[in-house]
Amino acid sequence: MSLEPKKSILNLEAYKPNFGASNLKKIIRLSANENALGYSPRIDKELKIGGFNRYPPQHSEELIKTISKIKNLDQNKIILGNGSDDLITVIAQTFLKPGDEAIYTEYGFLQFPQSITVAGGIKKIAKDINFHASVDNILKLITDKTRLIFLANANNPTGTFISKSEVYRLINNIPENVLLVYDAAYAEYIRNDKYTDGSELVEKYNNVIMLRTFSKLHGLAGLRLGWGYGNSKLINYLMAVRGPFSVNSMAIEAGIIAMKDIDFQNHCFDFNLKSMKHMEIELEQLDIKFINSSTNFILINLLDKDKFSAKNAVLFFKNNGVLVREMNVYNLPSHIRVSLGTEEENKYFLKLLKKFIRKNDS
Ligand SMILES: Cc1ncc(COP(=O)(O)O)c(C=O)c1O
Repeated sequence: MSLEPKKSILNLEAYKPNFGASNLKKIIRLSANENALGYSPRIDKELKIGGFNRYPPQHSEELIKTISKIKNLDQNKIILGNGSDDLITVIAQTFLKPGDEAIYTEYGFLQFPQSITVAGGIKKIAKDINFHASVDNILKLITDKTRLIFLANANNPTGTFISKSEVYRLINNIPENVLLVYDAAYAEYIRNDKYTDGSELVEKYNNVIMLRTFSKLHGLAGLRLGWGYGNSKLINYLMAVRGPFSVNSMAIEAGIIAMKDIDFQNHCFDFNLKSMKHMEIELEQLDIKFINSSTNFILINLLDKDKFSAKNAVLFFKNNGVLVREMNVYNLPSHIRVSLGTEEENKYFLKLLKKFIRKNDS
C-alpha cells in the first residue's frame, strides 16, 4: 500500500502567493498587501538579538500585556500565532471534524477554504452582493452541521467591509454553537465609525474570535506574527492545538516595539489614505473600474476596458518589473489586485498601466 495523506489533502494544492521569479534585478512587489513603508524604525534600533539557544515563551506575557494595554483589551482573551494564517488553521483544526460545515464568503480570503479542507470540513460559499459580504446569504447557509463562519472584514481581495450593524445582525442570528471567525487583518487601516474591528463583539458574545496581524500596517510580514481575541475558554482550546512554540523570539520582541510605536502606525495610516485617494483619482481619469477599498490594496477590473485580459496585464507588469496579483482563483479573470507601494512605486505602476492601455487600444 502506498503512503497517502488523509483524504481531504489528496487533491489539495499549496497556496501560491505571487512573489514571482523574475530575471529583472529590481522588482516592485505590489502583490502581497505588505507595508511598502517598512516597519517601525524603532525595531532596528531597539531589537535585542541573541538568546536564540532558548525556546521562546509559549505565551509571551510581555507582548500580550502590551497588546492588552494599547488596545484596551483583556489579556486573558489574547492568543498569539505564527501569523493569523496559523490561527485560522488552528481554529479549523480545533472545531471541524470530517463532515462538519464551515461557511466563508464568495471572495473570502483564500486561507479560509484551505484550512477548512485540511481539517476535513465541508466548504459552504456565501455569495457576495456587489463585492460585499452578504449577511443574508451567510445566514441562509447555516444548517445543524455548521460549526464555523469565516468573515474577513475588511476582506481580501475585495478591500470592502460590511458595517457594524450588519456584523451585529450576523452574530445575533447565528446559533451559539457556531463560531464566528472575524478576521480583521486590515483593521488598522480603517478609522470609520461604521466599522468594528470585532473586539467589542468578543466582550458580548462567547462565539466570536477576532483575528489580527502584524503583517499589514505594522509591516512585519516576514516575522510571522498574529493574534486572536476570544473568550478565555475558547483561547484555552486553541492553545492546546497550537504548536507550543509557534511564535518565535524575534517576532515577540519586534511585535512589542511595533505595537508601542503609535507615531509609525499613524504615519502609515495617513500615507495609505493619501495614496489610495491618489490611486482612485488616477484610475477614474483613465476610466478604469475598481472596487472602493478600505485597505492597503485595490481590486481593479480591466475587462470594462474590453479586450484586456488580466493575465496579459499581469505578464506585462511583471516584464516591466512590477508584481501584481491575478484573480483567477476567485473566478475573476478580468481583475487584478494591486497593493499600494511607495509614492515612487505607485507612480511607476500608473505609468505602466497607462502604457498597457495605450498598447491595447492601438
Ligand atoms: C484577510 C487576511 N487575513 C489574514 C491574512 C494573513 O495574515 P498573516 O500574515 O498574519 O498570516 C491576510 C494576508 O494577506 C489577509 O489578507
